[in-house]
Amino acid sequence: MIIKPRTRGFICLTAHPEGAAQNIKNQIEYVKSKGKIENGPKKVLVIGASTGFGIASRISAAFGSDAATIGVFFEKEASEGKTGTAGWYNSAAFEKEAHAAGLYAKSINGDAFSDEIKKQTIELIKQDLGQIDLVVYSLASPRRTHPKTGVAYASVLKPIGAPFSNKTVDFHTGVVSDITINPIESQEDIDNTIAVMGGEDWKFWMEDLKAAGVLAEGVKAVAYSYIGPELTFPIYRNGTIGQAKNDLEATVSTINDLLADLNGISYVSVNKALVTQSSSAIPVVPLYISLLYKVMKAKGIHEGCIEQMQRLFADRLYNKDGVSLDENGRIRVDDLEMRADVQAEVAELWEKATTENLEELSDIVGYREDFFNLFGFNFEGIDYEADTNEMIMVESIK
Ligand code: NAI
Ligand code: NA
Repeated sequence: MIIKPRTRGFICLTAHPEGAAQNIKNQIEYVKSKGKIENGPKKVLVIGASTGFGIASRISAAFGSDAATIGVFFEKEASEGKTGTAGWYNSAAFEKEAHAAGLYAKSINGDAFSDEIKKQTIELIKQDLGQIDLVVYSLASPRRTHPKTGVAYASVLKPIGAPFSNKTVDFHTGVVSDITINPIESQEDIDNTIAVMGGEDWKFWMEDLKAAGVLAEGVKAVAYSYIGPELTFPIYRNGTIGQAKNDLEATVSTINDLLADLNGISYVSVNKALVTQSSSAIPVVPLYISLLYKVMKAKGIHEGCIEQMQRLFADRLYNKDGVSLDENGRIRVDDLEMRADVQAEVAELWEKATTENLEELSDIVGYREDFFNLFGFNFEGIDYEADTNEMIMVESIK
């Protein structure tokens, strides 16, 4: 099949297997170039392991620390006339590279929110690894079916209290426009969003893993959060999704109690704003990211998911001098994004940005590049006119 990008809004309906493989290879090369992580993780479970921060975490553990990895994700393999999803191709490519390097890697494709997938994962750990020493929780989903009640929750991205008006960009066309997002109408919107993106499922995972005896002495667990600048507070940190992130962050102390007798510990890491399938769905944020990229690239401090996760592992989680935390007990790898000089320049550009000057003021070109890269497109050295085999079969993905 000759595979071209086919987009609908912020979604790309197609993905390119060879491009995705190139994406994975580039990330592996980056991690290798940074050298081995001293005393890094050895047996790792990554939940949400196929795209974005999750696959970057998996690559950092495997190629930075020779870790055996089990990945859990929700992706589709190719079917008649349809490509697989990007996360499927990423995972297939990762497993191939890991196996070639002599590293254990297996994956479970299914609904991580369900009891069944948790059970299957635990069986696989017991069978192959015995115990794990790191659990990375990197799920991002718009919905969750609760495993105990069967209730299906859908999250919303809305402000709380008052309508939010600001600029936004259609990153395909580069048109900057004003948008007003109406606030939640009831507490239910908050509760639903917390049910999907809050900490309960992370806690369920940790409880089940602990009860099964598959967590090693000194186990670490990490989940990802975001704060960002004041200009996105109404839609992000003070909005419905921010309430879910507060809930996720509060779950750290519950999990720490659970892990205490194993001398284990859990963290939330606040990561940088980056183009992923999840962040491109949030209004206003893509314009912020394209201005942020411009400023951070000019200062030589831009990072993608892989640079962020390699740094999280090497300089934070496995730093021999200890894990530095902010006043709320969180790991911060958004430190460069949040630097005062960076934020001041972004705020200045934010005021000025229009459709007419967007290409000049922002890195909308880099935004688009990253977006298409997520799906395996626009990589150098890949012949996108060539027929390619979309039917990638992988033994180690169940
Ligand atoms: P992503 O969309 O790239 O990755 C989501 C992952 O979750 C994929 O592996 C997907 O297969 C998996 N997944 C979704 N639903 C699932 C289900 N029901 N069962 C099993 N797997 C499922 O998202 P991204 O951006 O990497 O987000 C990961 C975490 O990082 C989230 O907590 C997000 O809030 C956080 N974060 C993201 C930032 C960003 O700018 N993208 C910034 C800071 C934090
Ligand atoms: Na992820």
